[in-house]
Amino acid sequence: MADHTMQQAESHYFISNPPPKDLKANTTLAREFIGRHADEGRRVVLVTSGGTTVPLETQTVRYIDNFSAGTRGATSAEYFLQQGYAVVFLHRQFSLLPFSRHYSHNTRSFLDYMKEEDGRVVVDEQHQEEMLRVLRQYAEVKRENRLLILSFVTITEYVWDLREVAQLMRPLGARAMFYLAAAVSDFFVPQDRMVEHKIQSTEEFSQSAVAGAGTKPPAARTEGRSLIIDLEPVPKFLKQLVDGWAPESIIVSFKLETDPSILVKKAQYSLNKYAHHLVIGNLLATRKWEVVFVSELEGEKWIRVPSNRRTKSFSGIESLVGAADPLTKDETSFAGSGRSAVPQGEPAVEIESIIVPEIAAMHTRLIERAQSKSSGA
Ligand code: PMT
Repeated sequence: MADHTMQQAESHYFISNPPPKDLKANTTLAREFIGRHADEGRRVVLVTSGGTTVPLETQTVRYIDNFSAGTRGATSAEYFLQQGYAVVFLHRQFSLLPFSRHYSHNTRSFLDYMKEEDGRVVVDEQHQEEMLRVLRQYAEVKRENRLLILSFVTITEYVWDLREVAQLMRPLGARAMFYLAAAVSDFFVPQDRMVEHKIQSTEEFSQSAVAGAGTKPPAARTEGRSLIIDLEPVPKFLKQLVDGWAPESIIVSFKLETDPSILVKKAQYSLNKYAHHLVIGNLLATRKWEVVFVSELEGEKWIRVPSNRRTKSFSGIESLVGAADPLTKDETSFAGSGRSAVPQGEPAVEIESIIVPEIAAMHTRLIERAQSKSSGA
């Protein structure tokens, strides 16, 4: 799409899909947070996380959603905090949160970590050490006020929040980073094609979906006994982010695929098309164990957790690790060191603990490059 057509699509999107109710409140919080950390000379990263919904009705009963639980985003946010960043965590409401993720959304209830002792509730022995570690990290981040949590539900809320926060981060220049881990809908129902009330499943009650001359019918409607959903494309806001909303920021996008044979090609295509800094390619089935970095600075680079240090995943397919990387297969494990060099019997490793320090190091180089450019060196 040509640049002016993109801009038209963007303005049309914002005109025809009104802002969410809590946009003002989110913006006020973000302005104060970003301003304070900018004054303190800190790097700020916006981490997006979780899936976006596509409502089918204005008074929403039904919506389209995707698989993302927000594990990548919530886990990465913790490691960015460990690297000294201030983090704006823009996440899908009720998806995983940094720190509390250790005790939510899993197969156990958080009450299973507790016991009663002398009429008081305490954490049981088995979980003391781990919970103390998490609690200390959380308390430090809170004391330093380095984590701002904002939420969205729908694709439209996400896009409005992203644009507002991006514009607030502009004064940070290269110290601002965008880490776009949210699974963003590519198709949606525009406001002007959305029905107000619940779509009826019984023919006797279904509203007439006949469109007037020159107007399109509702995007989601019943025809006979079938539900017809005719979605429209969401403009690729990555382009606007890179070129318009935050042109000096460092931008890391993700590319999710399920077919190993196209992952690297699609990541490279995205880097060329949007001309930002880094695309992290991941496969749905192996995303907790391996990712590929595709960047202008370093070309293609695989990051893998060695097999003896992988965290368990109930949804992954471990035998597919290496399938998208015909050159090295499983040789470049653990951030470039050979698999044989990996210590045996260590605790499980989260891949984000490798991804985030790599990105922070790349960020340092990009800041230096921006500084030398601006000083004319
Ligand atoms: O949450 P988890 O369960 O841990 O899963 C993590 C993850 C697999 C969701 C994450 O690692 C990931 O890959 N996120 C990006 C998924 C995605 O939206 O990929 P995409 O190929 O549809 O989009 C590529 C990029 O374009 C994304 O960075 C997105 O921000 C951007 N985009 C997408 C759609 C859109 N309309 N506009 C955009 O700018």
